[in-house]
Amino acid sequence: MKNGKKMRFLITAGGTREYLDPVRYITNASSGRMGYALAAAALKAGHSVTLISAPTGLVPPAGAEVVSVVSAGDMFKAVKKHFKTCDCLIMAAAVSDYTPVEAAKVKRKKEKKILTLKLKPTEDILAWAGRHKKQNVVVGFALEDRNLKRNAEKKLISKNADMIVANSPAAIGADSSRVLLKTPQGSWIDITGDKAKTARAIIRHITSLILG
Ligand code: CTP
Repeated sequence: MKNGKKMRFLITAGGTREYLDPVRYITNASSGRMGYALAAAALKAGHSVTLISAPTGLVPPAGAEVVSVVSAGDMFKAVKKHFKTCDCLIMAAAVSDYTPVEAAKVKRKKEKKILTLKLKPTEDILAWAGRHKKQNVVVGFALEDRNLKRNAEKKLISKNADMIVANSPAAIGADSSRVLLKTPQGSWIDITGDKAKTARAIIRHITSLILG
């Protein structure tokens, strides 16, 4: 991973699914497009990519090694397996913060009373990577509907990431997006454009962060 050499990117994408029973699950509105665009941009720049993907309707870019996962727990396992050998982890996935305490083995039957679901927190994968990184660079995303910069910076510091990409819920599923990038020491960088352009710019900034 020295000047001009190709880097190994580990990129997560999509919204995880937390099953309540064999046919029902909790998820979110993430399309996975930003993670897939990042994978395409990194490959185009000559790097290698392992794409850990939660279910999406997208076709992975040619050349990516794809690891398909479903739940936050699966994604955590896959990240742990590949993290040591990557130069940069980008957590673009929308990882569920909670998962059912118990998933029913058979389809739940409806009953005429209030149903309370018991959920437990999932592992924060980005924070785990921030604690375990050695030579690797860790990049997180922050989706914020209020106080974008302040909340994103809090995540950057508390999860010990090297860069945070902040965006607002308007970015979900949209073609064009505005993202703000920040490293712990740097100032905010504003990028607007379609997801391919935004992804190229993010990869460029990460590359210069690593290569200095
Ligand atoms: N993330 C993660 N593991 C989780 C939850 C989130 O690795 N269990 C990562 C996401 O992939 C993203 C970053 O943490 O890179 C921030 O995710 P976000 O949903 O914006 O924030 P949360 O940490 O979940 O905090 P909150 O929902 O309270 O804003």
